Order: sequence, then structure tokens, then C-alpha cells
Amino acid sequence: MQNVKMHRKQEVSLITESIKIQMLPCHASTIVEEMEQITEIVNRVYAEAEKGLWMHGAARTTMAEIAEFTSNGEIAVAKSMGQIIGCVRIRQLDEETGEFGMLAVDKKYQGAGIGRELIHFAEAKCQKDRLQKMQLELLVPVDGSHPVKETLKNWYTRIGYRPVYTEAMERSFPKLAQMLALSCHFIIFQKELT
Ligand SMILES: CC(C)(COP(=O)(O)OP(=O)(O)OC[C@H]1O[C@@H](n2cnc3c(N)ncnc32)[C@H](O)[C@@H]1OP(=O)(O)O)[C@@H](O)C(=O)NCCC(=O)NCCS
Repeated sequence: MQNVKMHRKQEVSLITESIKIQMLPCHASTIVEEMEQITEIVNRVYAEAEKGLWMHGAARTTMAEIAEFTSNGEIAVAKSMGQIIGCVRIRQLDEETGEFGMLAVDKKYQGAGIGRELIHFAEAKCQKDRLQKMQLELLVPVDGSHPVKETLKNWYTRIGYRPVYTEAMERSFPKLAQMLALSCHFIIFQKELT
């Protein structure tokens, strides 16, 4: 058992050593296969992380949406040995605020620091673009708590994000709100980029 654990640990550290994070090129040469991989990873990990929040069959994204975000130059990917293993959407909201969303790391690679690196990458990109604030949205149930969301809340707080306001799902995404299994809203977190 100990050997299996050691082996897994070594495997994870070898993977993290070989991780490359980069913006996905927004021109037509971005291969459909890569957009399929991103769509699959996002839908798979979100289905697990947001279990109980959505009605059966609801998907976080579609390939058409990923293609749109990619052509806008908003998708960054983490690759290990040429294979996409995680992603994040980065965009500018207004003249001073950047946002990261759709943060996802394939299950097999979670817990090895890749999510943290994807956020660093998003923050560094927005800093380079001279933005002063970074924002993220966290979907949570209006009543009660959800274990994965509590873990995320604690993590975002540890890396400097603070809740600034909540936004009703029904107001911002009326169609999506109909697919929720229980009432949820977004907590908007922000962090100063210094
Ligand atoms: C959120 C997500 C991207 C994090 O990716 P990751 O590569 O596993 O993250 P990291 O390894 O960088 O770990 C991030 C932090 O979470 C902590 N963490 C990781 N797995 C954990 C677990 N199972 N339980 C508690 N904490 C955990 C780590 O300790 C780390 O905190 P630290 O830097 O203070 O030590 C990944 O879990 C995921 O794809 N989740 C599903 C989609 C999702 O919920 N996205 C975010 C929506 S807002």
C-alpha cells in the first residue's frame, strides 16, 4: 500500500514538473479535438463538484460555447505531455476588472497544485493587461451549505479573494436557473491585483 502511495506521489510530481499553461490560440487552427477535450473535462468535473445543485442531465458547457470563448482568446489550458488536463476562462469585465471562470482540472490530476497555477496564470495575465482587480463567481445554494463549495470558499479566501456581493441566478441566467435542483446564487469574490 505504501509503495502504491509513493508511486502515485512520484507520478503526480513528475506530471506537475511537466505542466505547461498557455492561452489556446484563437485562430482557426485550434483543433476541434482540443475543444472537445476541454468541454469533456469541464462537464465531467463540474458534474461531480456541483452534485445535487443541478437537475439530472444539466451540463456546465457545450462545445459551441468553448469554441466561442476560444475564438475570443479567453481560454487558457494546462497541458501535460501535450495533453490538456485543465483549463480556465480569463476575460476583462471592465476597465479595471478581470475575471477567471470555468476553472477545471481533470480528476486524475487534482490536488497537485495545477488549479493554483491556473489561477496564478489568470492573475498574471490580467496584471500584464494593467487591470487592478480580479473577480470570480462561486455558485452556492441559497440555503444550507455544499461541502465542495465550502472547500472552494476557504481556498479562495486563503489566496486573497473576498466576497463582495451575491447575485441571483434567476436574474443573471434565467434559463440556467430553470435547470437548478435547488435555489442557488452566485457569491462574487474579488481580489486586488498588486
Ligand atoms: C477547483 C479545482 C480546479 C482545483 O484544482 P486542483 O488542481 O485540484 O487544485 P490545487 O491542487 O491547486 O489545490 C487547490 C487548493 O485546494 C486544496 N485542496 C485540493 N483538493 C482538496 C480536497 N479534496 N479537500 C480539501 N482541500 C483540497 C489544496 O490544499 C489547495 O490549497 P492550498 O494551495 O492552500 O494548499 C478542481 O478541484 C476542479 O476542477 N474542481 C471542479 C470544478 C470546480 O469546482 N471549479 C471551481 C468553480 S468556482
